[in-house]
Amino acid sequence: MFEQITLPYATDALEPHIDKLTVETHYGKHHKTYTATFNEKATEAGVADKTAEEILSNLESIEDVALRNAVKNNGGGYYNHNMYFEQFSPSPAAAPTGALEAKINETFGSLDELKAKLKTAATTRFGSGWAWLVVKEDGSLEVTSTANQDNPYTEHMGVPILALDVWEHAYYLKYMNLRPSYIDAFFNVLDWAKVSAKYDEAVK
Ligand SMILES: [Fe+2]
Repeated sequence: MFEQITLPYATDALEPHIDKLTVETHYGKHHKTYTATFNEKATEAGVADKTAEEILSNLESIEDVALRNAVKNNGGGYYNHNMYFEQFSPSPAAAPTGALEAKINETFGSLDELKAKLKTAATTRFGSGWAWLVVKEDGSLEVTSTANQDNPYTEHMGVPILALDVWEHAYYLKYMNLRPSYIDAFFNVLDWAKVSAKYDEAVK
């Protein structure tokens, strides 16, 4: 049984950066529906005993194309939003520490450069999708983006450690068409301590 994470903060705790109604709708409606449908479709496909990472990395094992796509879309919707909502804090660490801090400086030059690359990836993703910071198989870091609810597992890109949702449902109630303003706000509540922990887990 795949379950939504319990939000580690109140629905209004990310105000004014991410508003209460958006969190309530995004987590309580969109994410909830993805999760319920993923459970249903994973069971139908006979893969519900596997982890979400295993399922999303091995979609070709599901022969029926319509069912495979349903597992991909809803499994991505389940998994991506668990990552998304888990990484925020009303009192976030403003910068990474330890191994991730060193790796970001080595790869991108600075945290600001990385944030600029993520913002570009997120603003130039046409339509609905996600921008990601990924640890590739060789241990290097990469900024990338995917369409719809695809993610680094379904696209065989590596292990995601930061998930930036740019579907309109993530920002439209407060920011309307201003996706770049939402992205700036995203970084105000992103807890780099949690991203750093994800990195440590990915490279251990
Ligand atoms: Fe979303």
